[in-house]
Amino acid sequence: MQSKLIVAPKKFYITTPIYYISDKMHLGHSYTTIAADIFARYYRMIGSDVFYLTGTDEHGLKIQQSAESKGLTPKQLVDGLANDTKQLWKLLDISYDEFIRTTDKKHEELIKIIVQKMFDKGDIYLGEYEGWYCKGCESYFTEKEIENGKCPIGHEVFKEKEKAYFFKLSKYQEWLLQYIEEHPEFLQPQTRKNEMLSFIKNGLDDLCISREAVSWGVKLPFDDKYTVYVWVDALFNYLSGLDYFENKEKYSKYWPPDLQLMGKEIFRFHTIYWPIFLKSVDLEIPKIEFAHGWWTVEGQKMSKSFGNVIYPDVFIEEYDLDTYRYYLFREVSFGEDGSFSIKTVKERINNELVATLGNLFSRVLTLAQKREKTFTYFTDELSEKVEEKIAEIHKGYTQINLSKVISEIFEICFLANKYVQDNKPWELINTDPEKFDQVIYVLLETLRIVAVELSPIMTKKYKIMFDQLGLDLDDKNNYLLEFSNIMENKKVKKGEYLFVKKE
Ligand code: MSP
Repeated sequence: MQSKLIVAPKKFYITTPIYYISDKMHLGHSYTTIAADIFARYYRMIGSDVFYLTGTDEHGLKIQQSAESKGLTPKQLVDGLANDTKQLWKLLDISYDEFIRTTDKKHEELIKIIVQKMFDKGDIYLGEYEGWYCKGCESYFTEKEIENGKCPIGHEVFKEKEKAYFFKLSKYQEWLLQYIEEHPEFLQPQTRKNEMLSFIKNGLDDLCISREAVSWGVKLPFDDKYTVYVWVDALFNYLSGLDYFENKEKYSKYWPPDLQLMGKEIFRFHTIYWPIFLKSVDLEIPKIEFAHGWWTVEGQKMSKSFGNVIYPDVFIEEYDLDTYRYYLFREVSFGEDGSFSIKTVKERINNELVATLGNLFSRVLTLAQKREKTFTYFTDELSEKVEEKIAEIHKGYTQINLSKVISEIFEICFLANKYVQDNKPWELINTDPEKFDQVIYVLLETLRIVAVELSPIMTKKYKIMFDQLGLDLDDKNNYLLEFSNIMENKKVKKGEYLFVKKE
């Protein structure tokens, strides 16, 4: 059933970065992955044909060295790590459609064809490279970007010189500036876009795209002494993940990506190299590149050496998955930096999840059960306000503003709580049972909408909410985002508390 309040795009292709797998995934990686999952679930729910791609970045010097030190082949090492990553995403309820690995045969084949295409076009030439190389970032940095012998995110860098192949980035500089200007939605948020614009206007140097020292990678098709620079390799996962060469139908259905999410530190790769590479091989440019901020822990950089890394599996063992998914997008406005702290986790649980959301469900369901009957469709001023909120929440989801989504959902809860306060159903049940029934219907349908709106975020709790509301999870009609007659004749039950207070 199509909501009269919402127009769903026909298709929605969303991606996360493919993560390096040399270490265990932590809060930072899970942040982007959950964000993408939330959008994917929302668009699926409103009826778009969604393709959600994530995966792992498995080539490069770090993996090569790490495998050597462990006495494994690189392939043995990455197979184990990719599996661990998949297990974690399963635990976090990540509903990806495809998990691409840069060591997948289809990916490696695609890279060779793409690089050959760039070469044939005359966009790649042989030159000599000297620069500051950062192993951590697998990237060269310019003199300007180095501070005290460290790259912009603090890894040590080394001077390196080699004969190498270059990609003519400079050739595309003017094209890129014009493209960004003509597509105001392309780079978001605005502050990051401004940074990129000034970076481009400073002048783009040609990019070294070959590596002689790295054997664990895709060989350059026109000179097998070299492997392809990992960022060229990695970025095209967004194409190989769609089976570009194997399944033209899939490709033409989903390409280009509608939303590509990433942390701010790799925005540059996605806003400069990526569109230029695509232009070079004549492919359509993605619709939106969105950079979110970085998490610290209690205000401090998250790092193994500080011993303060937050691992999602450890967190959800102590709390629960939905608290985690909720907290990440409630605590920090998506796009900005933020700090993780257990104190604010507990405050959000107690003041919001327990006192507002959980309490509303328990209060309304307790009242509804007092009449030992079901209720019939009714509308009033609350149902009208709820429909206004549905439109606002839709804006939040589609404008990549998850804080807005959550705060609008809570606005509904506040409105519903006030409605209970104003109507005093505990009195109506004796004085005016007919009015009581109407008030309860409006409240139950409001709860259904809250549950539906939360379902992309709280992938477990919404199922309990549905159960308490007597709603079948598999019936698509129950997810309608419109104040409707769905809660007619539903047998509700109070059941367990949705959230428990944390001391
Ligand atoms: N392999 C590259 C990406 C290639 S995409 C074509 C890479 N991998 S990574 O493992 O370093 O992952 C970086 C991403 O992890 C960030 O862009 C962000 O999505 C996430 N985060 C890692 N640490 C983070 C925080 N502390 N805070 C928020 N997100 C961060 O770069």
